Amino acid sequence: MRLSHVVLNAPDIDATRVWYETHLGFALSDTLAHPRMGQVMHFMRCNPQHHSMAIARGPHASLHHISFELRGLDEYMYGTGRLLRAGVRMIWGPGRHLAGDNTFSYFMDPHGNTVEYTTELEELDEDAWHPHVYDFSQPEVTDQWGTANPMNELVAKESFNDVDRGVFVAPPV
Ligand SMILES: [Fe+2]
Repeated sequence: MRLSHVVLNAPDIDATRVWYETHLGFALSDTLAHPRMGQVMHFMRCNPQHHSMAIARGPHASLHHISFELRGLDEYMYGTGRLLRAGVRMIWGPGRHLAGDNTFSYFMDPHGNTVEYTTELEELDEDAWHPHVYDFSQPEVTDQWGTANPMNELVAKESFNDVDRGVFVAPPV
């Protein structure tokens, strides 16, 4: 249907969050925290959709993943199965996150970018909403359904991506 959200890696997620709040008018919806690692992800919104972007703690600035919205659970599962049958590697899923209440299936593209299929992302009442800090080590937080493979350091590292090599040169205007 459309691009659902984009997640960026950042070494300092709090400074990045404040920058997007100050200059682009984003608001914090929820945060994921780990008992040992501290806060690892901020979900940011610019409209009632729970998040249009998120900031993930990573070793360097890079893309974490982009997510595409499908039309409901059935299409989301058909889409997930279509990629699986084509032999595309699924790194995490299928499941349903607690923060945002959206479903997820994460795949790797040929260059190692992570792409997600999602649906049913939560719409908030922005006037009444108070951000939560969810414990990322709880399995029900990462996946309410319990169908996804467990999240661990190896899965997480798949979405760090490499440092941008700076090979893109903008064409003359
Ligand atoms: Fe996502």
